[in-house]
Amino acid sequence: MLSTHVTLVDVGPRDGLQNEKQTVATDHKVELVHRLQAAGLREIEVTSFVSPKWVPQMADNAAVMAGVERRPGVRYSVLVPNMQGLQAALPTRPDEVVVFGAASEAFSQRNINCSIAESIERFRPVVAAAHEANLKVRGAISCALGCPYQGEVSADEVERVVQLMKDIGVDHCGVADTIGVGTPKRVQAVMERALKHYPLVEVSGHFHDTYGQALANIYACLELGIHTFDASIAGLGGCPYAKGATGNVATEDVVFMLNGLDIDTGIDLNALVDAGAFISEVLGRAPVSRAGKALLAKRAA
Ligand code: HMG
Ligand code: MG
Repeated sequence: MLSTHVTLVDVGPRDGLQNEKQTVATDHKVELVHRLQAAGLREIEVTSFVSPKWVPQMADNAAVMAGVERRPGVRYSVLVPNMQGLQAALPTRPDEVVVFGAASEAFSQRNINCSIAESIERFRPVVAAAHEANLKVRGAISCALGCPYQGEVSADEVERVVQLMKDIGVDHCGVADTIGVGTPKRVQAVMERALKHYPLVEVSGHFHDTYGQALANIYACLELGIHTFDASIAGLGGCPYAKGATGNVATEDVVFMLNGLDIDTGIDLNALVDAGAFISEVLGRAPVSRAGKALLAKRAA
């Protein structure tokens, strides 16, 4: 039995835009968040409080957070890699913070400049301070299905990080296929490891679509009862430290599939397609979303 409701977290404003070389105006980022919430998204990853030397595109994090007119019932999350990030994020009043580790040592070093064990020690006070501020903490585990530097990543390696995150009090476990190499059976095997430590409601999947497997992988998760997924408007995204990896699965494509499965998301697909067209025009390219493109073509006909 598949769940009758799925929660989608749109990570487009953060994961989607962090990788863009061209400067995206703060107003456009804010407008994107407004369009996403108007389309019915109830969870939006707005920005990240990371070093602007490492990820210049997210340097306007506080201005974006200040510019968003918040809607009741919408949760606004931000990435924080360390206490410095949390301290910068707190005054901007996020509902949730995301600590991000990796299942591979090589990726941990390239992405956040420390080992897995060191990252956990950095996250420990972040989790405690976030809880003190009544914030929920999501954990993202990058490279759970493969690593651009190490190659294969085993389910044991993923479970080790799941356990470490659980031990320091991280509330939610997001399993991420950063480079999009996962296929359904392997994804299920890895998700089962996460489900050994976290309840269904606190496990989510974050799939990049590099090899065209993201929707199949989401379906494989649905079969396990998982009902929370990250997705990115217009299929934007990528990590600056995972070269060649394409964007996240497009939110429009996920909603189209879930609509067809009679699974409720609370999202208006037409408004979502408009949001995708908006940000794609800002970036000067066509939406990567297949459903988005098809629906725009149908409208134009
Ligand atoms: P570091 O250089 O090891 O940090 O970077 P440090 O503590 O030694 O500090 C060095 C400098 O950075 C200092 O500045 C600090 O003030 C500054 P300086 O004295 O040289 O002028 N600094 C900061 N500035 C702003 N905000 C902060 C912060 N911390 C230190 N929070 C650090 C370590 C983690 C900061 C760095 O490696 C970094 O910012 N990395 C960014 C990584 C990133 O954002 N990656 C993309 C997101 S992850 C992702 O996309 C994957 C995901 O989507 C899931 C998936 O798809 O797999 C989540
Ligand atoms: Mg990502």
